[in-house]
Amino acid sequence: MVKKSIQISIEEYDTMAGLTKTDHELMAKAEASIKDVYAVYSHYRVGAALRLSNGKIFTGNNQENAAYPSGLCAERVAMFYAKSQFPDETIEAIAISARADFFTIEEAVAPCGGCRQVMAEYQIQQESPIRVIMKGEKGPVLAVESVKALLPLMFHAEELKRKK
Ligand code: THU
Repeated sequence: MVKKSIQISIEEYDTMAGLTKTDHELMAKAEASIKDVYAVYSHYRVGAALRLSNGKIFTGNNQENAAYPSGLCAERVAMFYAKSQFPDETIEAIAISARADFFTIEEAVAPCGGCRQVMAEYQIQQESPIRVIMKGEKGPVLAVESVKALLPLMFHAEELKRKK
């Protein structure tokens, strides 16, 4: 047996004010999108904003449903919306923020596994990294340069191919 370790690097900013202008603009749009969520079941409100290589910014927010699994996270709403309109553009960065109705979110919200998987596949397809910027109501803002940091051992399309 050999033990292997993977190192990931996370940027931590005390507040949103420390972000670069482009990251700050994206996070501001993610936060603005929170007002439009449909989160009548969880009362947990998530906003996402992504920037495409053509400079366009797309936002998304969580959309819930009485049949719970039919709902969709903010990140996937934004990614599918953007990629359905501009399939040939690459996603440069995505910002995510959240609010809850009955408590304060003390830490940066990190995307769920399903959203990481979708981000990771687009990243492989476009052959360029997607920056992920994450924020809560309080606490530091976190950022990673690539989805690899969030999903190091991912299931990818190559695994669907017969090897022999
Ligand atoms: N949610 C997101 O929109 N993004 C995440 O990364 C985590 C969770 C949504 C899904 C659901 O509407 C609510 O937050 C509670 O899980």
